[in-house]
Amino acid sequence: MNLGLLASRRGSNMQSVLDACDAGTLPATPRVLITNNPSAEAIQRAQRAGMATHVLNSATHEDPDALDSAIHSALTDAHCNLIVLAGYMKLIGPRVLREFRNRIVNIHPALLPRFGGKGMYGIHVHRAVIASGARVSGVSVHLVDEEYDHGRILAQAEVPVYPNDTPEALAERVLRKEHEFLPAVLAQIAKNQIAL
Ligand code: GRF
Repeated sequence: MNLGLLASRRGSNMQSVLDACDAGTLPATPRVLITNNPSAEAIQRAQRAGMATHVLNSATHEDPDALDSAIHSALTDAHCNLIVLAGYMKLIGPRVLREFRNRIVNIHPALLPRFGGKGMYGIHVHRAVIASGARVSGVSVHLVDEEYDHGRILAQAEVPVYPNDTPEALAERVLRKEHEFLPAVLAQIAKNQIAL
């Protein structure tokens, strides 16, 4: 499996994927990082791993079609056959979606279909979970389509919510679970134990 990774910020989930590839527990090769954010920490992580990196955004490509095309080319030139959104804050364009139909996965820090959609990212997710009174949160890995956090759910893992949890404490507990769960789910995809 040749991985194309898209990340906008810290890139700790991407790092867990790179580490699993290195350790051999994930039979895949990370080929390229695409980010919209020139100051994403993910860029240094990818460079340390010797990956090609591309900053592609509305400043580099004003026309959304041209941006979609540039992302498409970066992924196809690197021979990617699975695309992983690891904290990528933008919607995927139609050309990339068409080329990689059912081959783009996203990780979300809650149990979809609740607590997803536009504006539901980062600490906002964990605030909403706590405000809802839910006793369980978790991690979802799902296929990507035209809408935020919307495609078919491939795998989920639960994380407890404790009575006096703060959003920050819950975020940290969920993130720890993400770091083990994302590489494990990708390994299941690589071994055809999860059908896309
Ligand atoms: C993670 O919580 C992930 O579920 C969400 O964005 C966050 C990214 O964190 N999609 P990081 O950049 O991987 O550290």
